[in-house]
Amino acid sequence: MSNFTLKIIEKYNETDDTVTIVFKQPGLKKIKYLAGQYLTLIFRINGRRYLRPYSFSSAPEVDQTLAVTVKRIPGGIVSNHIIDQVKVNDVIEVLEPLGDFTLKSNLVLQNTHIVLWGAGSGITPLMSIAKYALHKYDTSHVTLVYGNRNFESVIFNEKIKELQSRYDNFSGLHFYTQATIGMDNPNIIQGRIDPDMVLSIMQCEGELGNTVHYICGPTGLKESVKAALLKLGIDKERIFSEDFEIIRNPLDFEGITTRMVSINHNNNIAAVEVVKGKSILEAGLDAMIELPYACQTGSCLVCKGRVIKGELKTIGISKLPEELESNECLLCCSFPLNDDVEVAVDN
Ligand SMILES: Cc1cc2nc3c(=O)[nH]c(=O)nc-3n(C[C@H](O)[C@H](O)[C@H](O)COP(=O)(O)OP(=O)(O)OC[C@H]3O[C@@H](n4cnc5c(N)ncnc54)[C@H](O)[C@@H]3O)c2cc1C
Ligand code: FES
Repeated sequence: MSNFTLKIIEKYNETDDTVTIVFKQPGLKKIKYLAGQYLTLIFRINGRRYLRPYSFSSAPEVDQTLAVTVKRIPGGIVSNHIIDQVKVNDVIEVLEPLGDFTLKSNLVLQNTHIVLWGAGSGITPLMSIAKYALHKYDTSHVTLVYGNRNFESVIFNEKIKELQSRYDNFSGLHFYTQATIGMDNPNIIQGRIDPDMVLSIMQCEGELGNTVHYICGPTGLKESVKAALLKLGIDKERIFSEDFEIIRNPLDFEGITTRMVSINHNNNIAAVEVVKGKSILEAGLDAMIELPYACQTGSCLVCKGRVIKGELKTIGISKLPEELESNECLLCCSFPLNDDVEVAVDN
């Protein structure tokens, strides 16, 4: 995994609680990325190292600079640091771009209709995908369906309008959950993006078999949209989603108690208390062990470890990625089931 440093050349507000930060592309070795991927930003705050992934809101080949767009999470350590402390000319350490929430070239043909479903900050990778697809491919249509509380919380409102006026084959449909007075625009709908809305939007479409779908937003949105699309008979191989946060089901913690775990990080061994509800990764980071990680949602594999002994439970993802060996685990989704667990992480 390569690390880089990037210089911030611009920072501006998108809404009251969201900023975009723009990085200069390095002169010699430009950062290559795919639309829909993310950049993991690294900060040291009060002596502790934090890594957080942020999807690119810029698009390769379209934008000369790299941009990420960050929404403030109440009480969130890094999002508040970025919004309140980070400034133009700061140099930020980042990991190489990661993520597979990207356009699949075998699915994007001339008559493909790309449908992007998002809510709140979930718009960021969708914006990158929309800009790139419209620039690069002669697809039949790109539709963005974007849910927010109200007009004021819409991120990229002007950029969405720009795409609308520039490309005949782009349409943006806004959903507002809070009442808005005088909504006489047919592209603004009051309500939530729920399964009925998904069905009614897609029923206006002719060939559903030509559609591909990208969903990014809270779990509720993802589940509603996926269920409705599957009900319409859309192949699950044409539906992609990105999680910004893992939601753990409390029922999965039955049988789990606070345990001591031995973490061997590059041959430094520490006994760490893993409090019930915390993953081994979170417990290790709380104990100031600088373990490798990025997404914390079970997809990047950066937190991969070897199970030396003991039994673990995987929580938060439906199954472990096939790339892992039988004795490997993802520390961000691993919880100890007994007191003799020992894991090893090299790097
Ligand atoms: C692949 C990926 C791409 C992402 N892209 C973006 C992006 O483009 N823009 C963006 O703003 N964020 C994005 N995120 C989320 C981002 O990485 C951080 O998780 C977020 O900024 C919160 O970090 P924090 O340090 O402020 O909060 P923390 O201090 O880590 O968390 C504080 C509290 O907020 C909760 N929380 C954490 N993340 C979220 C969230 N996303 N929504 C609601 N509650 C949360 C936690 O459960 C915790 O209780 C992405 C995440 C992933 C995995
Ligand atoms: S940090 Fe990405 S899989 Fe665990």
